[in-house]
Amino acid sequence: MSNSPRKIIIDTDPGQDDAVAILLAFASPEDVDVLGITAVAGNVPLPLTSRNARMVCELAGRTDAKVFAGCDAPLVRRLITAEHVHGKSGLDGPDLPEPTMPLQDQHGVDFIIDTLREQPAGSVTLCPLGPLTNIATAFDRAPDIIDRVQEVILMGGAYFEVGNVTPTAEFNIYVDPEAAEIVFKSGVKITVIPLDVTHKALVTKARNSAFRALGTHVGEAVSDMTDFFERFDREKYGSEGAPLHDPCVIGYLIAPRLFTGRHINVEIETQSKLTLGMTVADWWRVTSREPNALFINDLDADRFFTLLTERLSRL
Ligand code: RIB
Ligand code: CA
Repeated sequence: MSNSPRKIIIDTDPGQDDAVAILLAFASPEDVDVLGITAVAGNVPLPLTSRNARMVCELAGRTDAKVFAGCDAPLVRRLITAEHVHGKSGLDGPDLPEPTMPLQDQHGVDFIIDTLREQPAGSVTLCPLGPLTNIATAFDRAPDIIDRVQEVILMGGAYFEVGNVTPTAEFNIYVDPEAAEIVFKSGVKITVIPLDVTHKALVTKARNSAFRALGTHVGEAVSDMTDFFERFDREKYGSEGAPLHDPCVIGYLIAPRLFTGRHINVEIETQSKLTLGMTVADWWRVTSREPNALFINDLDADRFFTLLTERLSRL
């Protein structure tokens, strides 16, 4: 007996990899019911992330989806963006039209709060794919919603794989470490999808060709997106393809058995200049700190890409 689809809110800073995650969610109605998409400042400023989120919804044929603009800057720090990775628009690569679907009037943080209060407790999963500013602001403004969250499955952090924006920090956490600290200390159920696992989800030439071989507008766009941000990652890591970070969040939600990790304590560095934004993961349990997160460190990459490609073929 198949379970009913998980109700989720995707919080995102598209970002080509965010875009593929959103497409995978829309392509999986038997597993995922997207209640709304909240844009946050991250890879590029908020006006662009909220534009890009709508462009992806239209690419998926989902002009009915509700897209909200959330926070335009981290809680206390200056916004740091990543145009050098994602291009000036944040969605360079494919040739997609400007969105025509509307942005919702409601602020993304208010949508998160209202949805968690209206939906049955424990029935909504939050899927942050960017800095945690919106989630932390919602928790701070409405602490009553924390216990109503089914799970937070977030892309962010790094431990054995170390950082991608500093030697010790991953971008999403580094942009807003204070927000990450609020989320990781909130007591909410957290599953972390860090670089430790996303750097094993590489878009090799064969996997990129499989996207293009779908022969669909979505397949072509996804291939163009991953071609674009691969140029930066191949140069940087010399790896056989770009890591497909954010789709691993939706992949985990759909097929958790493809992923493995450990329930450990994870805390966020917010004071040190040298290691700001580090996810201090007590992988070997050398402290008495309470475990607060499932920290994922491996996946079956072939099965993940087979699932991703099959699902994208539906759009
Ligand atoms: O470090 C990778 C993360 O930063 C991904 O979510 C990517 O989209 C960027 O937001
Ligand atoms: Ca992202």
